[in-house]
Amino acid sequence: MKTKMLVSETRGYKVSKVSDAKLIAENYLSNIDELSSEDVEFGLPEIDDRFHIWRVPVKTLGERIGEVVINAKVATIDEERTTKPKLLLTRQKNAKNKPKKTRSKTPDPVLSPLQNSIIKGDAREQLKNLPEQSVNLVFTSPPYYNAKPEYSEYSTYEEYLELMRQVIRESARCLSEGRFFVMNVSPVLLRRASRSESSKRIAVPFDMHRLFIEEGFEFVDDIHWVKPEGAGWSFGRGRRFAADRNPLQYKPVPITEYILVYRKKTKNLIDWNIRKHPDQAAVLESKVDDDYEKTNIWRINPSRSKVHPATFPLELAEKVIKYYSFQGDVVLDPFGGIGTTARAALNLRRRFVMCEISDKYVEHMKEYFASLKLPEASRIELVNTEETTSMNQAFDI
Ligand SMILES: C[S@@+](CC[C@H](N)C(=O)[O-])C[C@H]1O[C@@H](n2cnc3c(N)ncnc32)[C@H](O)[C@@H]1O
Repeated sequence: MKTKMLVSETRGYKVSKVSDAKLIAENYLSNIDELSSEDVEFGLPEIDDRFHIWRVPVKTLGERIGEVVINAKVATIDEERTTKPKLLLTRQKNAKNKPKKTRSKTPDPVLSPLQNSIIKGDAREQLKNLPEQSVNLVFTSPPYYNAKPEYSEYSTYEEYLELMRQVIRESARCLSEGRFFVMNVSPVLLRRASRSESSKRIAVPFDMHRLFIEEGFEFVDDIHWVKPEGAGWSFGRGRRFAADRNPLQYKPVPITEYILVYRKKTKNLIDWNIRKHPDQAAVLESKVDDDYEKTNIWRINPSRSKVHPATFPLELAEKVIKYYSFQGDVVLDPFGGIGTTARAALNLRRRFVMCEISDKYVEHMKEYFASLKLPEASRIELVNTEETTSMNQAFDI
């Protein structure tokens, strides 16, 4: 039987074993004055064969303080890439001075009790009624800040951000340990009020980022949803430059939107979410096919709806749900619109919880899902609509 050769062997490296790499690193560190060698531990050395090097993580009291990088071909220290001795010393000192944390074990995840639900009302209030850690993914596209000044809903941008903060905070409470919040958001254009003023673009995604971080999320990815060229010309941006070609007036036509990906802060690795998932058969069933998006550029045509002016495409919702949840999981969309997230969730055998403030869109969702004639198992709870008797009944709380 053939045994597979190690990378270090096929490349003919002089340093071919983990134990050799550790020994070289140990030797190097013992020559740094003041670095306490009894407080040095090593993480797992890894080969980076693009640069023909070994990276040996250095830790003190479990905390990473840097790495020793070894030239794998000649077994010498790569001083350029190795953490500088002064930095190692400072970090070791900091690690030793840090108050000791008591490690509490996170309870294992459990299956959510929620059924498919449509909740009518303001997400700020309605999400408070969902049990803690009862949803497994949040995917949404928030209302635009003053897309049309004449119908302005928010008196200031700060007021708008405060609404977003509250929804992000409540979503964090409802979201289970270490799971994802994915938001489709883009800068908005405020049209000029008169010819003597200029139009303004507000970088909403960057303010949203600050809210996520402040509300206990970690940034994971920025995916760019790219629409076909021509998609943005109707807004008129860039026409002036196209005609006059004066520098400084250049304005590209925006044909992208952000899909921002955040993870609820946890000390557990993503691997923990996979291993501890209460339905391991669902984990297996949820493996993603070969034709997944390999980069953070997703080319998807925009959607059009006769009922709602700002839907996102079903294809976009399906990708997000496929990549960030398992079958049977509950997907929450706090700004549900006409239920694109819910349709994607059903197509992919996930459950959904939609919240939507507008009667019109809630009615549309109800009619649409009623027309599907779903089996009993996919029954939909209606909350705060004429058909619901009580909120408590719906969520069994
Ligand atoms: C950009 S749209 C979402 C469209 C949705 N992704 C779809 O494909 O149908 C935002 C939605 O949020 C709703 N909305 C605005 N403020 C809300 C609030 N405070 N609570 C719940 N929904 C709200 C709006 O009525 C609108 O339908």
